Amino acid sequence: MKIAIASDHGGINIREEIKSLLEELGLQYEDFGCECDTSVDYPDYALPVAEKVASGEFDRGILVCGTGIGMSIAANKVSGIRCALVHDVFSAKATRQHNDSNMLAMGERVIGPGLAREIAKVWLTTDYEGGRHENRLNKIKDYEGK
Ligand code: RB5
Repeated sequence: MKIAIASDHGGINIREEIKSLLEELGLQYEDFGCECDTSVDYPDYALPVAEKVASGEFDRGILVCGTGIGMSIAANKVSGIRCALVHDVFSAKATRQHNDSNMLAMGERVIGPGLAREIAKVWLTTDYEGGRHENRLNKIKDYEGK
């Protein structure tokens, strides 16, 4: 599994924590920034990463900003992206099992690096359940195809 990761200036510490998790799990990843010590605009990071996941160049994407909200809003504008904004372990598991989310967004002003690491670990290691959820995802895919 190949992971694309990015943050704005508000998510740098969690981004570094997640990179260390990805190394521990032996997962291949690429860091798309930001290389910033001043304020940047989250869509400049969310949209290119989401496009790389939607195109299949990367299997999953992880985005971090201050709240995770801006990153998730932007990523979900890209067709084929199911970006889940998650700040608890229960939702991290459920969004993989039920939504087959292919991107994860978190907010560094909301949770600390320890919880972010647990959330990402569960999200990366939980499989999609399919079954009754497939019909629901197909309704979203059909809408995107319109
Ligand atoms: C940046 O100040 C902040 O707005 C951004 O990191 C994020 O929280 C947006 O949703």
